[in-house]
Amino acid sequence: MKVILASDHGGVSLRKEVAQVLNELEVEVEDIGCDCEGSVDYPDYAIPAAERVANGEFDKAILICGTGIGMSISANKVKGIRAALVHDLFTAKVTREHNNSNVLCMGERVIGPGLAREIARTWVSTNFEAGRHERRVSKIAEYENK
Ligand code: RB5
Repeated sequence: MKVILASDHGGVSLRKEVAQVLNELEVEVEDIGCDCEGSVDYPDYAIPAAERVANGEFDKAILICGTGIGMSISANKVKGIRAALVHDLFTAKVTREHNNSNVLCMGERVIGPGLAREIARTWVSTNFEAGRHERRVSKIAEYENK
């Protein structure tokens, strides 16, 4: 599995925690920053990362900002992206099983490093259940392709 990882200035510490988890899971990771001292704009990271998932270069992306909201709004503008904003273990699991989410967004100002690490571990390790959920996810793609 190949995962692209990014954050704005509000998510740098959590991004480093998540990078460690991905390394432990032996996931291939490209970390595109930010390497920021000052503030940057989350769409400048979310959109390129999401595009590289949508074009098949990466299987998934993990995007972190202060709240995770800016990253998720931006990533979901990219056709083919199903970005989930997750701050608990239940939805980390279920968004993979039911929504086949291909982008995980978290907020560093919302949760601590321990929970973020477990969310990343759960999300990366959980498979899509397909079945009835396939039909629902397909309806999103049909709308995008209208
Ligand atoms: C940056 O201050 C902050 O707005 C950003 O990290 C994020 O929380 C936006 O959704």
